Amino acid sequence: MNNTLRIFFCALLVSSCTANDPVIGLTDKVFEIAKIQYSAMDSCLTERQNPCIADKEGRLRTAGQGWWGSGFFPGSLWYVYEYTADTGFRDLAWKHTDRLSVLIDGKTDHDIGFQIHCSYGNALRLTRDSSAILPTYIAAAQKLGRRFSPVTGTIKSWDNLRGRWTYPVIIDNMMNLELLTNAARICGIDSLASIAVSHASTTMKNHFRKDYTTWHLVDYDPATGAVISKETVQGYSDDSAWARGQAWALYGYTMMYRETGIEDFFEQAVKVADMLLDKLPEDGIPYWDFNAPGAPEGFSSSDCPPVRDASAGAIMASAFIELNMLTGKKAYLEMARTQLLTLGSDEYLAKPGENGFFLLKHSVGSYPEGRDIDVAISYADYYFLEALVRYSRL
Ligand code: GLY
Repeated sequence: MNNTLRIFFCALLVSSCTANDPVIGLTDKVFEIAKIQYSAMDSCLTERQNPCIADKEGRLRTAGQGWWGSGFFPGSLWYVYEYTADTGFRDLAWKHTDRLSVLIDGKTDHDIGFQIHCSYGNALRLTRDSSAILPTYIAAAQKLGRRFSPVTGTIKSWDNLRGRWTYPVIIDNMMNLELLTNAARICGIDSLASIAVSHASTTMKNHFRKDYTTWHLVDYDPATGAVISKETVQGYSDDSAWARGQAWALYGYTMMYRETGIEDFFEQAVKVADMLLDKLPEDGIPYWDFNAPGAPEGFSSSDCPPVRDASAGAIMASAFIELNMLTGKKAYLEMARTQLLTLGSDEYLAKPGENGFFLLKHSVGSYPEGRDIDVAISYADYYFLEALVRYSRL
């Protein structure tokens, strides 16, 4: 069945949200809090500052436009505009989106996909003024496309090789492909879509273990395309299942099926989703690594207290909602509901004025580097808002 038909039949099967659904009430509440938090956040930022994280004391840390996550704050503002129709937030979203135009002439890596698709991509989706948006969007897609090698069949993720890698590709890179497929559709540049398909197919072959968990990084020989090593740099160990990596995989293959209609991508998304349904804790929010000591499937018996990663939970929730639309499988929607309700509880959702003006608490940046552990992080907010908007449209 092609994906248009699949979406049509599944939409008939999916139970629509009812007025009594607690997620609907939660969504109104979250967007009200978001308006308060992000107005305050905006007034803290200079032109070159982009919100990055807030620590447990609520201290905000910012980064420049070159930071890989610089598209998430503008993107979150676009979701606030989309849900509330408050044009003040459209203007705010545009202000923070426009600041990323400097990326086109600057040094970037594969994450230009996250940076530009979450900001300019949402602007394109939600406004009619494509003349101000398209040149930057297409230039970014072409810049990303130039990182592709037909020898490896993939886009190179990082240039800073730290003396460790030759041609590293990380699972996160699946998320950057939406910039390519969308730009290809808008402008008829088929080569960009072919690059995305090649990257996703090669990643499917080389990144996954037999149980459909994924390594974080595969290093390639750029001369032959052979795999040199498989590692999990941001996880507990090379053989462990780093939670955000699994979330990127779920979202990435669900999105690539929606974008291309290729059945292999659909099957991969379903395999990853079913693996996650087996592994996720009852409240739906994963430990930062499924195999971290102290987690139910932890590799070691040490009693080191495991930390959750709200960002991985939010990314998964958004992807589970979309995959439910594509499959009609209720278990995916139920997991997304559980995740959203947990993230909306007092344990995770900040009160106005708290948490450095972010929404969600308890995410993990990079545990092995001791960086950003149990903090608020901008991409957790972005995917939480996206998931709530997607849910509200069911
Ligand atoms: N793309 C970087 C991360 O997920 O931490």
